[in-house]
Amino acid sequence: MVDIHSHILYGIDDGAKSLEQSLAMVRMAADCGTTDIVATPHSDLKYRFQPEVIAARIVELQEQVGDRIKIHRGCDFHLHIDNLRSSYQDPSRYTINGLRYLMVEFADQQIPKTATQLLQELLAYGMTPVVTHPERNKLLLGMMDSLVEWIRMGCLMQVTGQSFLGRFGRTAEAGARDLLDKNMVHFVASDAHDTEHRPPDLRGPYAFVAKEWGKPVAEKLFVENPRATLTGAEIEYEEPAAAKKKSGWKLW
Ligand SMILES: [Fe+2]
Repeated sequence: MVDIHSHILYGIDDGAKSLEQSLAMVRMAADCGTTDIVATPHSDLKYRFQPEVIAARIVELQEQVGDRIKIHRGCDFHLHIDNLRSSYQDPSRYTINGLRYLMVEFADQQIPKTATQLLQELLAYGMTPVVTHPERNKLLLGMMDSLVEWIRMGCLMQVTGQSFLGRFGRTAEAGARDLLDKNMVHFVASDAHDTEHRPPDLRGPYAFVAKEWGKPVAEKLFVENPRATLTGAEIEYEEPAAAKKKSGWKLW
């Protein structure tokens, strides 16, 4: 599996706290069948994004874990003005492996009124926004028509694996299922922050998706689509199911 959302780098956000924790997380991911993991430190008003530190930490970790698992770089990108300006100047600073896919996280408390326009601008600058865990954001769940519009514009959606298993409550669990039923999930990732409460273990979520939606769907969401982000390859996906309906979008 390829995990495109994790906080495995120590001391730069609310993820791993020490080198030992980072190593434990990366080794756990490898033990759980993850061959590639993208480190996506937060870039928001609380945590400053430091590409040089990120690059150094990845080298340090990679040296210690060897070739059991490959660590890639990315960012958990928040839509605030400094981030946006900086990304327009240099998208590769924030995108996965410096290519086209950008993990975009919305705040729980407020979705900017201009969200659609901001996503459009990111697209215009050559980035493909991947909206992180919409199933865990009640505001996003309440604006399904916008999510459909964003996907039609070219944005993609990433669900957190543990949401399928109820780790983030019933609303997130139902939201994850509903989004997948509507062809509105393109990736499942761990969003790991530690080895205990939010571990980098995608085995349970993979098994669940394979059982409920079939193995080909699980392969697409946990392996094929995430792997495409590492090389910047195009991802093919179906229209959101709700968008196929002719009369009105009764989504929720
Ligand atoms: Fe995250």
